Amino acid sequence: MTIRLGGIIVGLAITAVLVLWSLVPGFINFAFGPPPEKQASYAFYEHGEGPEGGFSFDGPMGKWDVAQLQRGYQVYKEVCAACHSLKFVAFRNLQQLGYTEAEVDAEAASWTVPGLDPNTGEPTTRPGEPTDYFPSPYPNAIAAAAANNNAIPPDLSLMTKARHDGSNYVYDLLVGYGEADPEKAAKLGFETPPGLYFNKHFPNVNIAMPQPLVLDGQVSYADGTEATIPQMAKDVAAFLTWTAEPSLVQRKQTGWFVLGFLLFATALAFLSYKQIWAGMKPKKK
Ligand code: HEC
Repeated sequence: MTIRLGGIIVGLAITAVLVLWSLVPGFINFAFGPPPEKQASYAFYEHGEGPEGGFSFDGPMGKWDVAQLQRGYQVYKEVCAACHSLKFVAFRNLQQLGYTEAEVDAEAASWTVPGLDPNTGEPTTRPGEPTDYFPSPYPNAIAAAAANNNAIPPDLSLMTKARHDGSNYVYDLLVGYGEADPEKAAKLGFETPPGLYFNKHFPNVNIAMPQPLVLDGQVSYADGTEATIPQMAKDVAAFLTWTAEPSLVQRKQTGWFVLGFLLFATALAFLSYKQIWAGMKPKKK
């Protein structure tokens, strides 16, 4: 009896402590107001919803849309590659996007990669080969920072894995540019400093990346798809999902196979249980 009572009291005490603890941030907020440097970005940040209709690879039955990946690659090449590297992706990986070996050779050769002069050993550049990785547009981090208001454009190979809900996030980020509501900004003393750009879907709201997709038709798609800003954003987000996890679709398919196998194994286990106990009679009372 006393043990049970003790248990109840300890349980209540733990619950009380947890409840009080959960009230601490609210109390701090109430007593001291939200941290000032965060106040403004909280007021302007809006969580995005990703592209309308979602991605073809969403969900357990998701599949790549290879034409979309090709379009996304084109957007990366013609727009993002001016600032962002893709250092974990090699040109030969493009074969997975439905390009033939010859096309990959030609594609690689259209890029310039760092090389060494075979005679002097001096650093030079040369056309890419299928085994090369996508180069950085800058010779080093200092040059990258100097060209971008002190912010280094991050490598995009794994970006959709490095951010929560990354495919949707990349899409939202690319369509999130605009102006802060001037009235609200004046009230909160919020401003976008020179060299930064307002983006409601960037957690910090002011981002050092100028809006990369600014014009409908900024790239011309070979497959005739209309290159609106949301379309280009969706395509490049899909492409960057592929660079971060080329085996995504395979992983999902393997999952179904494993589930099927487990179901089969469960049925076998159940049948063998029946078989083993078949001769046993229940004990009479
Ligand atoms: C003019 C150079 C430039 C171009 C072009 C550019 N970016 Fe950026 N990007 C930047 C810089 C600089 C940052 C770092 C921003 C910061 O930390 O404030 C950045 C950051 C990012 C981030 C990371 C944001 C985060 O959450 O930290 C993503 C994702 C991104 N860029 C995607 C793209 C895509 C996709 C394209 C092509 C459609 C592109 N960028 C084109 C300069 C560029």
